[in-house]
Amino acid sequence: MALLEIRDLFAGYGKMAIIQGLSLSVDSGDFVALVGPNGSGKSTLIKTILGLTTIFEGKVSFDGVDITAGKPEKIANMKLGYVPQISNVFTDMTVKENLEMGGTTIRDRERRRAVFNRVTNLFPILDSRERQRAGLLSGGERQMLAVGRALMAEPKLLILDEPTAALAPIVAEQLFQKLAEIQSQMGVTMVLVEQNARKALSLASKGVVLIQGKKAFEGTPDEIMKDTEIIRMFLGELTI
Ligand SMILES: Nc1ncnc2c1ncn2[C@@H]1O[C@H](COP(=O)(O)OP(=O)(O)OP(=O)(O)O)[C@@H](O)[C@H]1O
Ligand SMILES: [Mg+2]
Repeated sequence: MALLEIRDLFAGYGKMAIIQGLSLSVDSGDFVALVGPNGSGKSTLIKTILGLTTIFEGKVSFDGVDITAGKPEKIANMKLGYVPQISNVFTDMTVKENLEMGGTTIRDRERRRAVFNRVTNLFPILDSRERQRAGLLSGGERQMLAVGRALMAEPKLLILDEPTAALAPIVAEQLFQKLAEIQSQMGVTMVLVEQNARKALSLASKGVVLIQGKKAFEGTPDEIMKDTEIIRMFLGELTI
């Protein structure tokens, strides 16, 4: 059984369907790169999984539970981590408080402490900045905090919406390496939305290309990189 299963989905805002008949399966252990032009519906698809849009048709299930049109608060309490494209940390709270907020669904105190240690081992900078307000972090540190915060809930699936968009290339590269580590060493299944399609595909086990709300292509990263038609549609992104 797939960890995340999306079937014949139509979803959007108000009466407008942005996602138009999309099906997608994500298996445990997958690293999925979700790529596509601006406005193709990547964020809308992610928000739909989290119950934040209107679903007109279709079905979404996670970890064997039907979450189609589930309440966002309920979905947020499942083992489904989400790092949004914007506003992904509480800027007025300290680094430590942000991380603790992420772990509130874990009841056992010892366990919470252990996860906290794992997250700060992964991102040592968060440990050294734990008393600092999140709003004072650099762009890269802030994204690490957003990822760390999501990891505090021990997600089975982590969905990231363009986490490197505002980062300098060298800082983006550091974050990409951490994401690869989270997937391979912590065993967290990953869906990564990325503008840098080439980079995302180089890390992923599977690539999905979204165009105008439809899945235009799905395959191994190699297959996508070799597809000249897809490269043509991505001109400027895959050709970096
Ligand atoms: N809250 C909203 N209300 C109405 N329409 C929206 C809303 N958010 C996005 N849209 C529209 O939905 C379409 C898809 O937008 P979406 O943000 O999902 O694209 P995206 O693939 O994530 O783009 P980007 O790469 O720029 O982040 C766009 O036409 C956009 O204008
Ligand atoms: Mg987006």
